[in-house]
Amino acid sequence: MRTRTVSLALLFAVVAVGILLLTRPSLSPTPDGSSDRGSPTADIPLSSIVEGDRFMRNVSTEPGTVHVALVAAPEHMALIDGVRSDVYAFNGRVPGPTLELMEGDRVTVRFRNELPEPTTVHWHGLSLPIDSDGSPLDPVEPGEEKHYTFTIPTGFAGTYWYHPHPHGATTSQVTKGLYGAIVIRAPDDPLPESFSERLLVLSDNRILSDGTFDFTEPTTAQGQIDFQNGREGDLLFVNGEITPTLEIRSGEIQRWRIVNAAASRVYRLAIQGQTLLHVGSDGGLFEHPVEVDEIVIANSERVEVLVRGTGTPGSSTVLETLPYDRYMPQTRPADWNQPRALLTLRYSDEPPLTPEVVPETLRPIPYLDPADASATREIVMAQGMINNQLFDMDRVDVSARLGATEIWEVHNIVGMDHPFHLHGFQFQILDRNGVPEPFRKWKDSVNVPKKETVRFIVRFADHPGKWMIHCHILDHEDQGMMGILEVTEEE
Ligand code: C2O
Ligand code: CU
Ligand code: CU
Repeated sequence: MRTRTVSLALLFAVVAVGILLLTRPSLSPTPDGSSDRGSPTADIPLSSIVEGDRFMRNVSTEPGTVHVALVAAPEHMALIDGVRSDVYAFNGRVPGPTLELMEGDRVTVRFRNELPEPTTVHWHGLSLPIDSDGSPLDPVEPGEEKHYTFTIPTGFAGTYWYHPHPHGATTSQVTKGLYGAIVIRAPDDPLPESFSERLLVLSDNRILSDGTFDFTEPTTAQGQIDFQNGREGDLLFVNGEITPTLEIRSGEIQRWRIVNAAASRVYRLAIQGQTLLHVGSDGGLFEHPVEVDEIVIANSERVEVLVRGTGTPGSSTVLETLPYDRYMPQTRPADWNQPRALLTLRYSDEPPLTPEVVPETLRPIPYLDPADASATREIVMAQGMINNQLFDMDRVDVSARLGATEIWEVHNIVGMDHPFHLHGFQFQILDRNGVPEPFRKWKDSVNVPKKETVRFIVRFADHPGKWMIHCHILDHEDQGMMGILEVTEEE
């Protein structure tokens, strides 16, 4: 651990002095030197969760129970036109199939690891027993099976996702294709079913012209940038497709569930010429819709938005990601300030529908009273470290009592953003840099911008065990920017 600390420090020092001299290398050269693979591909329909084969198939016939099979295995398939890559896939798909659940469901996932290396499946954002969390403490060896079992509590309707979480290898396994969405529905969902749903799983990658993933050695210039920023890709995928087209009818209202599954890219989403109705985040719907121009969605965060078809029949617009400066100046990518198109939103030729009414009240979010907090914790995020330490599987960093309500102050003391994630328990943000959060929402990840502090309140209501706390820039997690919260039953 000691040598690791030293080499980390050295690397950061090298980045700091060396990088000013660098120009950004071409990230994924094409044979003719152009970079046309990131350009719009017309007329690819956007895969949506409405298509049956995108789901994990529930083989249980008992109401209220869901039994699905999930296999992680190597595959040889094309992620971009014209070239195949050696990927890792869940059930042969990238992204993996969507797990669709109802509140109250008792879920068993029979998972088999057919990869040549250990892995886990982590159910990001869910409240579940510790032995089903799929943390690095619970690896599934090659050829082994593991059954993940959990029950979805009431109030957890929302959009979540699953991904591997093996010790030190999360970035490479997610990058090779292991990520998928989870949609949990409530029987009393306040949004009308007539708002048709779209699921958008965002991710990025860098792929060389021969189809191999562009992973860098830390000794190279790009390797140092990846180490510091987390590995970003110039190829922006929505459900595994580059700039697909999504159809909407004039006057129609669509409900989009969006997952940021990228290893380190933060998206700042906006639709040209339209506002968005922001209705939910990590842990599901807000109390009321909020009209916004744009939404920042950091790594592992989710949003629910209502997209209103305010355009005219036959027209089209673009969902784009606007520049978002999460970087240290030394490693800021040269094109960071360029907006990038994610998908084309095309209005059909059909005559406009009369827009439906959006409910003004969605669902109550319980109030967690700071006066009930039995402890206030300080968590300090520095580059690659939490509370000045690297991850150690055998060390508990924070202990809390089962049933306790606590306030956590998460400080980011360095000059780049770090999205903080807590396993197993959802929290409510109290304030950011002292500014009270404008309304309540359930979160499991929160971006802590450069040199800022976020305070949240959390109740460790159930499920004792050792839960991960970490930065969700996956390279940082692998580098050891992770700690363990132990929730204990004893006095
Ligand atoms: Cu998305 Cu530790 O997880
Ligand atoms: Cu998680
Ligand atoms: Cu980080």
